Formats: sequence, structure tokens, C-alpha cells
Amino acid sequence: MMVATPGAFHGRAATWTLAEMRAQDLRQVLEIERRSFDNPWSSTLFLQELRIPFSRIVVIRPAGASDEPIVGYLCRWLVADEIHVLNVAVHPEHRGRAIGAVLLGEALREAERSRADAVTLEVRRSNEAARRLYAAFHFEEVGVRRHYYGRGEDALIMRLVLPRG
Ligand SMILES: CC(C)(COP(=O)(O)OP(=O)(O)OC[C@H]1O[C@@H](n2cnc3c(N)ncnc32)[C@H](O)[C@@H]1OP(=O)(O)O)[C@@H](O)C(=O)NCCC(=O)NCCS
Repeated sequence: MMVATPGAFHGRAATWTLAEMRAQDLRQVLEIERRSFDNPWSSTLFLQELRIPFSRIVVIRPAGASDEPIVGYLCRWLVADEIHVLNVAVHPEHRGRAIGAVLLGEALREAERSRADAVTLEVRRSNEAARRLYAAFHFEEVGVRRHYYGRGEDALIMRLVLPRG
């Protein structure tokens, strides 16, 4: 199913299409996941997320035929007026092309559409690329979970409060 709004985006260098993740996307998503994280989500975990009513995974492809390869995805929960971003990753060969920004932008637009109050997420203190992405969207650090990812690896809790329109 295509995401109704806004569907296709004009990124810096290309136009992207967003869609709900389907079970048949799993192989491509897992490939990106494994290349992106030391402790990647398992296929079971992704399939579980696809069944949770308040969870949503959006995948992104270059615009064109629907068999274009997936270049990134974002998983979020919508719970109690908040969107919580659980996972976001872009294929290593496609980073730095604003794909992460398109994915996060869609999550923010969805938050506005569903009249959520805020978007939250956690990020490793050492993850400079992700922190720059969140800083560009004006996320603020609201807490720290010490050694969350193991010794010496803190998680920063980031939050973006959305204006009430
Ligand atoms: C974080 C991630 C999703 C960003 O995706 P992306 O498509 O490369 O991001 P964008 O191109 O939208 O770039 C966003 C910002 O991050 C910056 N950035 C991208 N790669 C960077 C890098 N390796 N080092 C520092 N900054 C970087 C860009 O400069 C950009 O800032 P700018 O617009 O001011 O130039 C991607 O790096 C990734 O998949 N990382 C591995 C998984 C991960 O860490 N996920 C986040 C978990 S919290």
C-alpha cells in the first residue's frame, strides 16, 4: 500500500517513494539492518512489528517501478499521543543523500496528521550521523540512559515537541 500523504518526495538528488513495509520486503530490510547495526533486529522481530496495530514500518525506494530496491526504512510506534521512533536505517551505499531526513520527515508529518504531541527516540551518544540528523530536525536531548548499550555506551533520549495547530 502506498503512503497516501505525501507519497513521493523530492530529495536532494532523487525522488523517493514511501510505502508500508510488507512481509516480502523482509529480505531487503534485513540486509540493510545487518549492515547498519552491531545488534541487528531479527526477522522474527520485524515480523512481530508488522503485526502490532500501533507499530508501522515505512520503506523507501527510488521512485519508479515498485521493484526498485529498498534503500531505507523507519519503524515507529504511535502510543498515547506520542510517536516513538524505534528503528531507522539507510543502506550504507545510499547514506548522505537525505534519505534519513525524508524518512524522519514522514514520521513528523504523520505525527502532525495524528495530532501527536511529541516524537521521541533513543540514540547512541557515539552515533554522530544519527545525532546530526536529529539535530537538523531540532530534537532536544531530554535524558540519558547510562551504559544502555553496554559499558561506556550511553543512550541519549531525544524529544521533539510538536506545536499544536
Ligand atoms: C543515521 C542514518 C539513518 C542517516 O541516514 P542518511 O540518509 O545518511 O541521513 P541524511 O543524508 O538525511 O543526513 C542527515 C544528516 O546527517 C549527516 N550525516 C550523514 N552521514 C554522516 C556521517 N557519516 N557522519 C556525520 N554526519 C553524517 C548529514 O551531513 C546530514 O546533515 P546535513 O543535512 O546537515 O548535511 C544513517 O547514517 C544510518 O542508517 N546509520 C546506521 C543506522 C543508525 O545508526 N540508525 C539510527 C539509530 S538511532
